[in-house]
Amino acid sequence: MAVKYTVAMKRVIAIANQKGGVGKTTTAVNLAASLAATKRRVLLIDLDPQGNATMGSGINKSQLERSSCDVLLEEIELSAALVAVEPGGFSLLPANQDLTAAEVRLLTMPSGRETKLRAALAPVRDAFDVILIDCPPALNMLTVNSLVAADSVLIPMQCEYYALEGLSALLGTVEQIRAAVNPRLEIEGILRTMFDPRNNLANEVSAQLITHFGDKVFRTIIPRNIRLAEAPSFGRPVLFHDKESRGALSYLALAGEMIRREEEDEERAASAAASAAAAAAAGSLAGATSDPGMSAVNAGSSAPVETETPQAIGTATAEPTSDIGHTPQGPSSAVDERKARSLPD
Ligand SMILES: Nc1ncnc2c1ncn2[C@@H]1O[C@H](COP(=O)(O)OP(=O)(O)O)[C@@H](O)[C@H]1O
Ligand SMILES: [Mg+2]
Repeated sequence: MAVKYTVAMKRVIAIANQKGGVGKTTTAVNLAASLAATKRRVLLIDLDPQGNATMGSGINKSQLERSSCDVLLEEIELSAALVAVEPGGFSLLPANQDLTAAEVRLLTMPSGRETKLRAALAPVRDAFDVILIDCPPALNMLTVNSLVAADSVLIPMQCEYYALEGLSALLGTVEQIRAAVNPRLEIEGILRTMFDPRNNLANEVSAQLITHFGDKVFRTIIPRNIRLAEAPSFGRPVLFHDKESRGALSYLALAGEMIRREEEDEERAASAAASAAAAAAAGSLAGATSDPGMSAVNAGSSAPVETETPQAIGTATAEPTSDIGHTPQGPSSAVDERKARSLPD
């Protein structure tokens, strides 16, 4: 039976952090597979000349006929360069070191160099429910192209001493891109990766993140997990390497959290629309009938919100257990902490 869902996710999500080794590629590949497991149509774009997302998806980067380099230089349509990732269940725009040459060529272009990826993506946006972009470890023209093409940016972070410093540089770039070319660019969330709850510094940095960024910090935490580190050597997402591992469960939980956030946003929007409709109906009927209250009730009930989340995801994320990502203070205390500081939902 086909899985039914009605909530569209933010379509294009750039996975960015100019620091290397923070878990961008691991997040890109495993989130792609986890979202694909919910029957969403997922495209993963490798925009790093290292081609790690390509190799981690089981595609040999040294034997590519077409790649993201050709697409950025407008030599081919994006759809002509896509490969199917099996196992994984998603499409991939692969990359290799040719992308370095593409970046240099972009830099010498007199105009339009920041918008190449956005233009290339335009014809395929509707063919996918989610498009994830794995960015290189630099705030360079490739990352700028990703942020210009994206609806939101997901920031993987290791909770280390200098992490917050790097974060402000990235947020500055996001702000500049928002002001210059892409006003709708949002922060999808900050993801704590390779987390070790026994490390006091990690717990401190994590607490600081929550203080500064509130519910922009994903509740799901990705633990340090050997299965996540070894899956790329098999050319597979961890879900197809060891689906019971904490790494696999934590990326399923992340997908579930993202879907739930979207559902909550949709529900808020639907109930706001229903209240507006009810108010309008009450207003217009007030003169004609003596029962404005009744019309408000009817208007309110005429906007059902259908949200069906796939079982596996719902289960994996219903209440993060000690198995699925560690929350230093426990999941409920994190929520309580937010309530105590009365941050918005
Ligand atoms: N949660 C994790 N647990 C253990 N190893 C991880 C985890 N996330 C990433 N790694 C490993 O850390 C290294 C850097 O991760 P990667 O995703 O390539 O970072 P980036 O793309 O930001 O450079 C890789 O060897 C990867 O396998
Ligand atoms: Mg990488």
